[in-house]
Amino acid sequence: MNGCNLAIVGATGAVGQVFLGILEARPFPLKRLSLFASKRSVGKRIKVRGEEVEVREVTPGCFDGVDIAFISVSSQVSKELAPLAVRSGALVIDDSSAFRMEKDVPLVVPEINAEDLQHHKGIVAIPNCSTTQMVMALYPIHRVNPIKRIVVDTYQSVSGTGRAAMEELKQQTEALLRNGEYASKVYPHPIGFNLFPHIDSFLANGYTREEWKMVEETRKIMHAPNIAISATCVRVPVYISHSEAVHIELTRPMSVQEARETLATFPGVQVVDDVASNSYPTPIRAAGRDEVFVGRIRQDASHPNGLAMWVVSDNLRKGAALDAIQIAEEVLSRRLLLSLHGR
Ligand SMILES: NC(=O)c1ccc[n+]([C@@H]2O[C@H](COP(=O)([O-])OP(=O)(O)OC[C@H]3O[C@@H](n4cnc5c(N)ncnc54)[C@H](OP(=O)(O)O)[C@@H]3O)[C@@H](O)[C@H]2O)c1
Repeated sequence: MNGCNLAIVGATGAVGQVFLGILEARPFPLKRLSLFASKRSVGKRIKVRGEEVEVREVTPGCFDGVDIAFISVSSQVSKELAPLAVRSGALVIDDSSAFRMEKDVPLVVPEINAEDLQHHKGIVAIPNCSTTQMVMALYPIHRVNPIKRIVVDTYQSVSGTGRAAMEELKQQTEALLRNGEYASKVYPHPIGFNLFPHIDSFLANGYTREEWKMVEETRKIMHAPNIAISATCVRVPVYISHSEAVHIELTRPMSVQEARETLATFPGVQVVDDVASNSYPTPIRAAGRDEVFVGRIRQDASHPNGLAMWVVSDNLRKGAALDAIQIAEEVLSRRLLLSLHGR
């Protein structure tokens, strides 16, 4: 195959825009690019690799001839559109939570479980952004010293909610600085100069859906159904990059030095950990970068087999668009489209 016919649904969204930016920078073998969004954006023109592409609405037959469709819209819309793309013969890489826990849908972070792609039936899901960066930091340790329990608290940026939430943080902060008011439209509380332990809806068990995604998705990606996990997900007034305080209990003790060395050699992870020079990951430094940054690695004083660490990553890149492009690259290099189309 000389290049790939790629469709992006949600091309005007926070993730879609970053996906296009990454496409400019990577040597992804692109033949034809189709861009889709809602009715609101039809007719917009977006320049990609020197050519203007018009944004269209999804219509019957619009996925004909498409090899890979990257779908980055709400779960509800994804549930309607992904089957259309699969029926046209495209492989769907879906960014929403619509299909992640379905048995036949690989949930993939390529550095960890690219092998799972072999079993796709037309849809591959990318994990929730808070899950991706956590498993990137934990899997290298888990492979050498299995993790028994994870306790994680997240500090998640507004870009994780999408474009409208980024605008809400900006407008609200400006209004508050002028002693004015800006009514919250996206969130249940003001996000300017505030934070709240509430991401996605609440479940009967007292956790939020976001917290429960971290539990279920981590187990699926790491093929570790028995890891005990408890998460508290918090929205904070940060534009881009999620931060996580992670505490793990291992099978055996692990020294801080061994943890640092194990993480430093894993692709896509960078250790930033020198407290003597105030060096640890921060959201601003992680924004726009591909790596998952890990610092503040220390022995967990509450458990002999415990480690604590601080994990930060750009949620729009490794947490979404970059992971999707890496999956597409893996699919092409493993010739997994050929098996689907018989071409
Ligand atoms: N943001 C993150 O960090 C992140 C990370 C992992 C996963 N995700 C998931 O990725 C998805 C998109 O997130 P986002 O942050 O990019 O949201 P967003 O900024 O709100 O963008 C949503 C996109 O969906 C498009 N859209 C809405 N209705 C549509 C329809 N009926 N047909 C076609 N396109 C439609 C919008 O088009 P218009 O511009 O025309 O409205 C826009 O391009 C969500 O499922 C989210 O959970 C996001």
